[in-house]
Amino acid sequence: MSKEKVVLAYSGGLDTSVAIKWLQDKYNMDVIAVVLNLGQPENLLLIQRKALEVGAIDSLIVDANKEFINDFVAPALEANALYEKKYPISTALSRPLIAKHLVEVAKAHGASAVAHGCTGKGNDQVRLETAIMALNPDIKIIAPQREWVMSREEEIEYAKSHNIEVPVTKADPYSVDENFWGRSIEAGMLEDPWVEPPPDVFKWTTNPVDAPDTPEYIELVFEQGKPVILNDQSLSLLELVPELNRLAGKHGIGRVDMVENRLVGIKSREIYECPAATVLIAAHREIETLTLTRDVLHYKYDVEEAYAREVYFGKWYSPLRLALQAFIASTQHHVSGTARFKLYKGHCRVVGRKSPASLYDYNLATYDRSDEFSHESAKGFIELWGLPGKVWAKKQGWQ
Ligand code: ARG
Repeated sequence: MSKEKVVLAYSGGLDTSVAIKWLQDKYNMDVIAVVLNLGQPENLLLIQRKALEVGAIDSLIVDANKEFINDFVAPALEANALYEKKYPISTALSRPLIAKHLVEVAKAHGASAVAHGCTGKGNDQVRLETAIMALNPDIKIIAPQREWVMSREEEIEYAKSHNIEVPVTKADPYSVDENFWGRSIEAGMLEDPWVEPPPDVFKWTTNPVDAPDTPEYIELVFEQGKPVILNDQSLSLLELVPELNRLAGKHGIGRVDMVENRLVGIKSREIYECPAATVLIAAHREIETLTLTRDVLHYKYDVEEAYAREVYFGKWYSPLRLALQAFIASTQHHVSGTARFKLYKGHCRVVGRKSPASLYDYNLATYDRSDEFSHESAKGFIELWGLPGKVWAKKQGWQ
């Protein structure tokens, strides 16, 4: 009788390599390894091969680049999504997509289970499993790292005794996750929130002191909330984001250092490198300030926070995320225009913005002779605006 199959989200690292063997040992299952291409720089072919060497019966690379950029990153950019005002939710955005492909591969290969290498302390286990539950409630979910009771040393012993290659160099002390939208770094000495991140933490961004001494100007054109042109060059989002990661990264832009509230109740110290996300969110906001009315803009701030929290908390496939997304989409029809930025030694500063749909009216804003603003209306407006406060203040005995 053929064995049951399990589809494992495979990274090529020690944990998921050990997981391949462990799933065979403990569950007597055949393992199909899957790695998604989400724009991370690793050599995916090597990762694919490694899974087979360790003992997977099949090993797949899923090219999810375009889907990730268009269906996850673009909507998050329209939302200016930043968790706790700082983190562009790059890892959080990738998990529901990984889950979707695990479920699809399981279906295509007749697997009864899916597995992932997340620990019991993080957000990623929650994001993957809530997404899997939404997409296929019947599939079994196995989380080897949460189940096996092995210390780090025991895990290395287990790997050695099963002929799994253990990195000989002193293992990277950090836990890193990367995709187009950002790179996250945690653990190691970063676990002390007082310790300044050492230089080896950063891979995408130049140390601002070593960044070019001449500022660089860039122009970004948005159409209906989406960036379409960078410096006169029409680019797809899939081309534009990596190019901007390179350009802004060179100027040391996009480093984030924060203490973050995880869904599972703990605070953790996180470092991110997100050059493209930093510039694009700033540029998108600039076009919004010109093209959205004050009330929509202010209301959208609240929606943006709720949106980022919802995605961070593993609720991509939820009615609330979809409803918030629908609101956001309805605000983007006129978010078209150009933002001009100056990149210089870790800073990205807006220097200009313009839009054919601009609500900025020179004749209303100016103090010169072409002023068309109705000064005389201001008097009556203020009287009514201040009226409730005046009545209330009198009751307080202020007058
Ligand atoms: N703290 C970030 C988040 O929750 C990054 C997680 C990184 N994940 C990882 N497996 N290293 O989204």
